[in-house]
Amino acid sequence: MKNIVKKYGDGFPAVNDVSIDVQDGEFMILVGPSGCGKSTLLRMIVGLEDITSGDMIIGDRRVNDLAPRDRHLAMVFQNYALYPHLTVYENIAFPLRLAKVPDAEVDEKVRAASKTLELDEHLERKPGNLSGGQRQRVAMGRAIVREADAFLFDEPLSNLDAKLRGQMRTVIARLQKSLGITTVYVTHDQTEAMTLGDRVAVLKRGILQQLATPRELYDHPGNLFVAGFIGSPPMNFLPVTVEGTSAKLPFGTVQLPPDKASKADGKGLLIAGIRPEHFEDASVKTDQGSGSTFRATVDVVEWLGNETYAYIPFEAPPEVDAQLRELERDLDGEPMGTQLVVSLDGASRIREGEEAEIWVDGSKIHLFEPATGENLTVDRERCGRIPPPVAEAEAVSRAQAEPEAV
Ligand SMILES: Nc1ncnc2c1ncn2[C@@H]1O[C@H](COP(=O)(O)OP(=O)(O)OP(=O)(O)O)[C@@H](O)[C@H]1O
Ligand SMILES: [Mg+2]
Repeated sequence: MKNIVKKYGDGFPAVNDVSIDVQDGEFMILVGPSGCGKSTLLRMIVGLEDITSGDMIIGDRRVNDLAPRDRHLAMVFQNYALYPHLTVYENIAFPLRLAKVPDAEVDEKVRAASKTLELDEHLERKPGNLSGGQRQRVAMGRAIVREADAFLFDEPLSNLDAKLRGQMRTVIARLQKSLGITTVYVTHDQTEAMTLGDRVAVLKRGILQQLATPRELYDHPGNLFVAGFIGSPPMNFLPVTVEGTSAKLPFGTVQLPPDKASKADGKGLLIAGIRPEHFEDASVKTDQGSGSTFRATVDVVEWLGNETYAYIPFEAPPEVDAQLRELERDLDGEPMGTQLVVSLDGASRIREGEEAEIWVDGSKIHLFEPATGENLTVDRERCGRIPPPVAEAEAVSRAQAEPEAV
């Protein structure tokens, strides 16, 4: 995808200057909140949507004007699109029947696909009598027998319950690896993005925010939005000022590594990002390394067995608060609140309403510029690709100034 733009009738750019290179055999994830343009992008790859400007290239062919059937891609939709009156066998065989493939060859391909998907026992049944996960596998079987050059998935697991979703995730991962087929997979679920993707493209309002491996996204998020989107429970955002190597946070002062501190020293009020898992109950943390400790009163404690979540309220000054409220809207209304969430060892004996000593790993803190959301401490060598910081307003007006496609 080279500088792909999609504007619908009202001129609003649903996809805005997106460039993504999907490698052969790669599992690429498109992720972002509702309405960020994921499905639109996928539909432009497969040919179900006209491209306003930019180049869609598959192999060495520009396919912008190629009909969907000539692109040799297989798409699996969220609602499966199975034929209720046909058996599982015939549902899988459908694209081959359309192509008038001889019966013997159809049989061979359908049986091979249904074996891979563990559907061989269900071939004579109708979709109405199958579980959600089985139906999903039938839809995938239909994509497999077509022997397409790439698979495209649009939120294929969103109709399934949490347990089945976990199972199907491993089925898809195994299938993709064994077939080695290039895959583009749309989801708004960050867990699916992190577990399935070789690389993940994070989108917000039609604009690519970062293109990186799951680990790069987690360790080196390029901006506030990516930092807040990747990780569960989400990263905490707190007001901070840095002086020398000391970071002054609402609940105390934390020591930063000098290289990190130097990027923020004297920059005034910033936003600190700290993941819940980078805190610990100081009383169970035997090796405190270069971390810092602080005392805080714990509001709520949730004990989950293997870990404990503790909630610690704090106050944010208006400059930071406004930026955090906007981020909350961008992230699809996920409430962030002005409370710190810390994930502690299950052995922690911290109690509600009591003061506790908490340890935090200063080397894991991110520092963000409040006005732009840019991560000042990101490691540019290890963060994948962050598109140049085009001001969003500028990108939008540029896209609107371009002539409408016919
Ligand atoms: N046919 C259309 N006409 C006008 N606007 C559209 C059309 N289809 C989508 N849009 C708009 O384009 C933007 C992107 O839509 P898209 O369906 O790609 O989002 P998405 O990321 O797939 O969201 P979701 O997670 O909800 O499926 C949205 O603002 C949407 O309202
Ligand atoms: Mg969608």
